[in-house]
Formats: sequence, structure tokens, C-alpha cells
Amino acid sequence: MSRLSTRADGIAAVFGAAMIAAVVGSPAASQEAARNPAADYRFTADHRLEFPADYREWIFLSAGHGMTYGPSANPHGPPLFENVFVNPSAHREFLKTGRWPDRSIFVLEIRNAVTEGSINQGGQFQKGVVSVEVEIKDPRFSDPDGWGFFEFDTDRKPAQRAAKGASCYTCHSAHGAVEQTFVQFYPTLIPVAEKYGTLKKQP
Ligand code: HEC
Repeated sequence: MSRLSTRADGIAAVFGAAMIAAVVGSPAASQEAARNPAADYRFTADHRLEFPADYREWIFLSAGHGMTYGPSANPHGPPLFENVFVNPSAHREFLKTGRWPDRSIFVLEIRNAVTEGSINQGGQFQKGVVSVEVEIKDPRFSDPDGWGFFEFDTDRKPAQRAAKGASCYTCHSAHGAVEQTFVQFYPTLIPVAEKYGTLKKQP
């Protein structure tokens, strides 16, 4: 056997092993997720939501810039950025049905906008986190409608659910295009909701 073919066989063997590991690894991972579907968020014993520390590894839905609609609006300062993330299992289900499954979790991360830095000569880029807001669809929140809203302080300590009647619930249920969420502002989800007929007409 030539040196070359030995090396090629070696590479093939390594590749084969890696592929077996990948094939064996992924169903195990999804079985784990199926056994423990609430793994994307956890509550403390006194019903506070722990900060969802991994949210930056989830699916990025879109970024708003300088949108003014609520308490975090900053009309007198530089416009803020709002980045929206959803847990991957909920996103997969939405792509198949146009609806959010139970145990969907959304993060709205609000960041400062800055203009001066490095080689930038115009436009704005994102800087420090101003606040993190979270929304969850879970049957434990049957009162009023299966959704819970949470606001985290900068210390990221576990957060209490916003009280029933808080503005989060009224604005999201009145204006969100799909269930309680603002799919009308997430360009990749709009065609999915249209396809499955779940987009409300004039939110
Ligand atoms: C006056 C209306 C209004 C109020 C009040 C409001 N929101 Fe929202 N929220 C929005 C809009 C509009 C978006 C879309 C944001 C974007 O595209 O940047 C949004 C997006 C979100 C998202 C991303 C998922 C989604 O629903 O689309 C979360 C999480 C969220 N808000 C949490 C909260 C929490 C927690 C509160 C209460 C403390 C709250 N919001 C109060 C209007 C509101």
C-alpha cells in the first residue's frame, strides 16, 4: 500500500468515526430534549424565572432600531437596538405549523446604540445591554391566557412574573400578529404565518 493510500484510508477512518459520532450524538441529544422539554428555562422554588443565560445561542429573529412603543422607549437619547431571540425547538415547530408550542421562550435584548468607535465613520452599532425582557408560553400561566412576562435587572437575579393586568399583557395581546408575539416585525416568520393562516389581520 502506498503512503498516500494509507493516509487516505486513515482520513476515511477518522471521517467515518466522526460521522458515526455525529449520527449517534444527534438523536441522543433530541431524546434528551424530548425528555426534558422545559430545559430552555427554569424556575426557582419561589416561582421566579432564572435568567436564561444561553439565549445568545438561540435563533435570532430580528433587530428593531429606535422603535418607540413602550416603557423602554428612549425618545430623547440615541435610538436603542432591540434584538429578539427564540429557543430553537419553538422555532422549529413554528416553521411547521405557524403557531408557538408550549414552552416557547422569547428574549428581547435592548442595547445602546453608539456611533464612535474604531474605523466607523457613519451609522450606528450596538453596545451595552440596557435591559432584557422575557416572554414564555407555558400552561402553568393559564391565568389569564398561558403567557408569562418577565423583566430582568442588570444583576440578572431571578425575575418575578409581571402581575396580571401589566401593560406587557395588554399591548402584546392587542397588537401581536401571532398569538402574543410581534411576528409582523420578524421578516422570516411573516411568510410562515401567512402560509398557515395564523397572522392576525390588523394588529
Ligand atoms: C406598548 C406595547 C408593548 C408593551 C407595553 C410591551 N411590549 Fe414587548 N414588544 C412590543 C413590540 C412592538 C415588540 C416587537 C419588538 C421589536 O421588533 O423590536 C415586542 C417584543 C417583545 C418580546 C419579543 C417577543 C415578541 O413578543 O415578539 C418580548 C420578550 C417582550 N416584548 C417582552 C415584554 C415585556 C416583559 C413587557 C412588559 C414589561 C413588554 N414586552 C411590554 C410591544 C410592547
